[in-house]
Amino acid sequence: MEGNINGFSKLSKRDKINWIAQTYFSNSTDIVELIEQYWNSDEELQKLHDEFIENTITNFYLPFGVAPNFKINDRWYTVPMVIEESSVVAAASKAAKFWSERGGFKTTILGTEKIGQVHFIYKGDKNKLVEFIKAIDKKFYEDTTSITQNMQKRGGGISAIELRDKTADVDNYYQLHVTFETKDSMGANFINSCLEQIAKTLKSEAVNHIAFTDEEKAIDVVMSILSNYVPNCVVRAEVSCPIEDLKGKDIKEPQLFAEKFVQAVRIAEVEPFRAVTHNKGVMNGVDAVVLATGNDFRAIEAGVHAYAARNGQYSSLSHASIENGIFRFWIDLPLALGTVGGLTSLHPMVKVALKMLQSPSATELMQIIAVAGLAQNFAAVKSLTTTGIQQGHMKMHLMNILNQFKANDAERVKVVAHFEKHVVTHSAVVELLESLRK
Ligand code: MEV
Repeated sequence: MEGNINGFSKLSKRDKINWIAQTYFSNSTDIVELIEQYWNSDEELQKLHDEFIENTITNFYLPFGVAPNFKINDRWYTVPMVIEESSVVAAASKAAKFWSERGGFKTTILGTEKIGQVHFIYKGDKNKLVEFIKAIDKKFYEDTTSITQNMQKRGGGISAIELRDKTADVDNYYQLHVTFETKDSMGANFINSCLEQIAKTLKSEAVNHIAFTDEEKAIDVVMSILSNYVPNCVVRAEVSCPIEDLKGKDIKEPQLFAEKFVQAVRIAEVEPFRAVTHNKGVMNGVDAVVLATGNDFRAIEAGVHAYAARNGQYSSLSHASIENGIFRFWIDLPLALGTVGGLTSLHPMVKVALKMLQSPSATELMQIIAVAGLAQNFAAVKSLTTTGIQQGHMKMHLMNILNQFKANDAERVKVVAHFEKHVVTHSAVVELLESLRK
């Protein structure tokens, strides 16, 4: 069978699956069975998921775990995390417990401003354009009233519309740089609808502007779209304690630990190769909660990494210091999140996640997610600078290896008991399994 097809989206779900099975698999019956096994038996629930996107053929499971004991601004949270990486939830839980015994996490919202832009081409006198935009500023707000009125009732809306001259970069290129407050919604649809109306107003007002020449009247809008770069929608999360208080089961020499930890963070601040992996550790925590709460993890990833490179070189998102005997570790993260709208009111497990977090506002969720990122980063850097990462990582990965080799219950008990006292490596697990099976 050929690998291309016309009208695929119009096929029934079963026909889509059959086509995939027959085109790409020799054992098509088994594949159809497997795909269908992942359907939910509750038809209404399945239909809900089918309709999230086009051409749904089945569901794709990821574990939904929880990390308890997060003390954030003196309030307790159990944090839902959707992630496949074996050690992440365990590390988050461990870091949460560690810091809950040392004052907990503190957070501050540094800003909540979102951005959108109308990119346009104007061929003519810049001063005339500046005067024109000033003159129609009010009209932008009037023409978007039907879109903004509900948001305004909740305290949000368009905060400012600014003309930016970008002609040094691209011939005749200007933009309307628009700032928004979107309260508890992520605001993507709201922002894009406002921008498209602003672009319409820009074009139609230009045509009637008597001071413009015909060429100046012909403003050409290239595109109108929100920006996922939100350097003024930022939350800070931090932990701190006297160095002596760091002492614990895994930290015997707190002064040495603190110094090495600060060095490791400093390396991530100055060395992009390390910074990327350091920040990946942060995003292990961030993405897991972003996914569990039905937020857009691609938007968050794009925005966070742009922020990490805002000074011209990609750098660490977190920072650490020792001052007057106090160890401090903190992170600033740009997070455009929503707790209303989108998947948050549709996906049943997202609703569970949000309820578990005590129905947070968007700014509360920013704080929880920044803490999850900082906790994850703390756990990773602590392991890296003490035992090394593989000890904990492989311990958690043990179950995956056992599953890969289809270990039975008796084998599992024996292997797990053995590796309580030995270092887990893939080959050591395989060797032990083989010897048990002889
Ligand atoms: C693995 O998923 C994340 C780490 O590599 C992060 C780090 O190196 O800081 C352990």
